[in-house]
Amino acid sequence: MADDRARPAPPFPYMRYAKQRLGFDRPMNLGMSGIRPPADALLADLGVGPLSGAPLGAAAYRAALAARFEVDPAQVHPAVGTSHANFLIGFALARGGRVWAEEPGYGAFRAIADEVGATFHPLLRRPELGWALDPLVLKQAAREGADVVFVSDLHNPTGKRLTDDDFAGLAELAEATGAWIVVDEVYADFDPVPRPSAVHRNPRFLVTSSLTKVHGLGDLRAGWILGGEQIIEQLAEVDDVVCPALSGTLMAQAASYVAHGRERAAVIRDRAAWRLDQVDRWVEATPHMSWVRPDGGISGFVRVGEGQETDQGDRLAAQAEARHGVLLVPGSYFQRPAWVRISYDLDEEILGPALDGVAQAARELFG
Ligand SMILES: Cc1ncc(COP(=O)(O)O)c(C=O)c1O
Repeated sequence: MADDRARPAPPFPYMRYAKQRLGFDRPMNLGMSGIRPPADALLADLGVGPLSGAPLGAAAYRAALAARFEVDPAQVHPAVGTSHANFLIGFALARGGRVWAEEPGYGAFRAIADEVGATFHPLLRRPELGWALDPLVLKQAAREGADVVFVSDLHNPTGKRLTDDDFAGLAELAEATGAWIVVDEVYADFDPVPRPSAVHRNPRFLVTSSLTKVHGLGDLRAGWILGGEQIIEQLAEVDDVVCPALSGTLMAQAASYVAHGRERAAVIRDRAAWRLDQVDRWVEATPHMSWVRPDGGISGFVRVGEGQETDQGDRLAAQAEARHGVLLVPGSYFQRPAWVRISYDLDEEILGPALDGVAQAARELFG
């Protein structure tokens, strides 16, 4: 029988040493592998800067995140967006092992499993359960074994939050298998009923997130992992190979923003709320469309027509774009070609016509 236990990722001790010991502030330092940063004036002439002056300056960023999520700074690992955070966890903890991830779900979870040579197993979320995790599949995972489990909260593509039962099932799975449960909270600030980060629920839970989605700061690529101190230290050691440091300049900016993260999230959530109501009314009134109303945010997953295994969602997305210039994400990107993901953070005068375009495309295809 093949050995499918996860193999530990190799550490890179030199980078640990270099980050901790080598610095331009040390006297008689014959150890530096790069030159001193150019003067600010020179950089300005070249159209660069100002730089933070703290190339490894994660302390302020860590502290801001620790305050925001009520954890110790040692429980925070900075990352280049949620993508890096998720990949690092897969690479560090699931190489050659078993990854379970929610389905329908964000396709990167499966890609990460493939890239780290892990086997992939779908953890089904069911529309008839309001997109909750299927308890039977959670039990199957507990029997078969798991190294890393990926779920998102709010869920991409449905906008549903994980329930207390989901969390209890995930905690049982972690206990039965020793798996790490990754709760991707990149959409969590969209939740109209803010909850403490899932990192507080269980020592086997790791949380990944960033400012790229809810906060619209894709340009900063500022992300993070939250977890217990020991596992965060283990991940940091592996990250010495993948991404030894983030830009100090970006972390300084992100730290300033995160200090206002709560207030900003409240403003953004309110802005999203009326659109959700509008799209909910549209789904109700439009032939061939149905959904489980999202809990919050700017996206939902719409079922197109009836029938079990159809590609009606993909066909609707193609028709809406070709005939009406309206973009929807085909459900096949979330392993469900009968569905489409619809995102509605548009100005009011565009949202109505865009929804009309989708309704017309559906009429053209399905009568
Ligand atoms: C669930 C989920 N996680 C992570 C990402 C990527 O996040 P980031 O831009 O922070 O890398 C996405 C992007 O769509 C996503 O849907």
